[in-house]
Amino acid sequence: MVEDADSRPGEYECGWSLGACPRLADISFEISIALCTYRYPSGFHSDYFVIIQLSRLVEPPFTFFLNYLIPFMSTHTRQDAPIPAPSYRSSNESKLFGRITKICCVGAGYVGGPTSAVMANANPNIQVTVVDYDSKRIAAWQSDELPIYEPGLMEMVKPSRDGIPNKRAPNLFFSTDVDRGIAEAELILLSVNTPTKTLGQGAGHASELSYLESAVRKIGAVATDNKIIVEKSTVPCRAADTLRDVLRATSKPGVEFEILSNPEFLAEGTAIQNLSNPDRVLIGSLKTPQGLAAARALAQIYSAWVSAERIITINLFSSELAKLAANALLAQRISSVNALGAMCEAVGADIDEVSYAVGLDKRIGSRMLKASVGFGGSCFRKDILSLAYIAESLNLFEVAAYWRSVVDINEYQKDRFTRRIVRCLYNSLSNKTLAILGFAYKKDTGDTRESAAITVVNNLLAEGANVRIYDPQVKESQIRYDIESSNPHPQSIKDRLVVCSSTYDACTDADAVVILTEWDEFSNKSSSAHARGDLVCSGDMDAMRKEISWKRISQVMRRPMYVFDGRNVVDPVPLEALGFRYEGVGKSRDL
Ligand code: NAD
Ligand code: UGA
Repeated sequence: MVEDADSRPGEYECGWSLGACPRLADISFEISIALCTYRYPSGFHSDYFVIIQLSRLVEPPFTFFLNYLIPFMSTHTRQDAPIPAPSYRSSNESKLFGRITKICCVGAGYVGGPTSAVMANANPNIQVTVVDYDSKRIAAWQSDELPIYEPGLMEMVKPSRDGIPNKRAPNLFFSTDVDRGIAEAELILLSVNTPTKTLGQGAGHASELSYLESAVRKIGAVATDNKIIVEKSTVPCRAADTLRDVLRATSKPGVEFEILSNPEFLAEGTAIQNLSNPDRVLIGSLKTPQGLAAARALAQIYSAWVSAERIITINLFSSELAKLAANALLAQRISSVNALGAMCEAVGADIDEVSYAVGLDKRIGSRMLKASVGFGGSCFRKDILSLAYIAESLNLFEVAAYWRSVVDINEYQKDRFTRRIVRCLYNSLSNKTLAILGFAYKKDTGDTRESAAITVVNNLLAEGANVRIYDPQVKESQIRYDIESSNPHPQSIKDRLVVCSSTYDACTDADAVVILTEWDEFSNKSSSAHARGDLVCSGDMDAMRKEISWKRISQVMRRPMYVFDGRNVVDPVPLEALGFRYEGVGKSRDL
């Protein structure tokens, strides 16, 4: 009886367990065949091994059987073969988790959609089904207008979703049939949202795990065979224990689950790049044979496109904490640089120069040191608050305070930026119009979750300003929803909030331009470099083509014309030549 077979290249093993043979006298034995594929510089070579497990030492007639079989096997094994990684599955392992042929991803959001697309693209023999209750989102994933904007996403989705005639069959599916997706899969990726709790204990701090719990309850109710459950969502430490407990209480007898942590590190705007070429893939498991076997099964899926040295396997709870730690450390760099930016503004230094200078130290590195109006996005704030809440619940109050200060500085940065605008515009924004360029929390995404723009625009409205907002990717309905749902007097601001379809429309009759997202088209840096005669590579030429004309903007604005650059994307020199007054974050004009 063949229980399990696997012959994809690049894998070290697979077990064809023949199952336990009937007991003969008082000896039982189990035979499995392992297929080992060796990786040579010149290609792959496969050998079969027969593994016989006997219940005790044997005497004739079984010794005769073994004496015959062993020489037979050695004639069929390459003598020059390297010793493969000891990763063949024992027959027990292969019974618990067979070959992965079907994956279900629960949650078709910013993580679930792109991750599944990359996985399906690299594993044409595995069926990947993304399920979500949100039927509008699923319909969009099935269409030519994907529900999220992400460079390169459509190119990644199409081949596996639609197939390529005569080349590959479709293996990426999107569905609202959550039960079926779960029931059919051997491995389930949980990519549901884990926002900050808004109700009850820990509200405003702890992670809301109810979406995860409900997905896991569904797995418990629906599963009729063993499954590997993978936490892709960002979770508090030891969430796996909670999930295991829910599964124990809700699953059918005899069905076993192994929970892995496999946090996602993609950043929006570069998701496909990050997923296709990750710095690392982290897989956390229990150190039990089943836990390690499950980790190997997941690692094998990644090995279709990620090199082995980048697939890191660690302890389950270290993996959960490592995700929170990574986000906390990244956000901490931004708050540190923004805190230094406040000093730069006061002493006449330039934060871009300071960041550049410190970033040349290899121990510090240059990335994530860009001063800004404040970090946004769905994760930094919530993950730091979650980390701080965990610390507090462990009575580590100083640790909690340390991490919260990263969020505090971020709030301070947004307020400080608004106060600077008010101060420059003669301490009153009444009857003044501000053009807001950019509303997404960063460029190359249409996502506005926790965008600094939401706070800054609300602050400006509270000062009595009229705001005219333009973002190349964010829809008007989203902008209105974000502002109105976070404003204490949504009715009173309706007339003072206009969403525009172009930069020029937004800037018409404006007193100031406020840049809140670093979209390439708002920058003039490529054309300034070009004008200075600096080398312009083809990427810069593309950026130049997209750039807005600041000359044209200067023709439609009221005087004096201010530019408040919350992302330092504009070169002030050509702007000042056009008559603009320029205020960059972390930069001082006067000193
Ligand atoms: P998202 O809100 O875009 O998507 C989550 C999806 O899950 C939603 O479509 C929702 O309808 C669906 N969902 C919730 N409960 C469900 C259930 N029980 N059954 C079926 N569908 C369900 O969220 P996201 O941005 O993709 O983030 C998901 C997780 O990944 C979060 O924990 C987040 O912290 C983490 N993460 C996000 C990013 C990112 O860039 N957005 C990066 C790394 C990690
Ligand atoms: C971040 C992390 O970078 C990802 O590794 C992580 O997987 C993800 O959070 C998550 O867990 O959700 P993301 O928020 O998409 O990704 O984008 P980032 O590039 O990290 O930017 C976050 C915010 O910081 C943005 O508002 C960005 O404009 C701002 N930022 C970034 C700065 O202000 N300065 C910088 O130098 C870099």
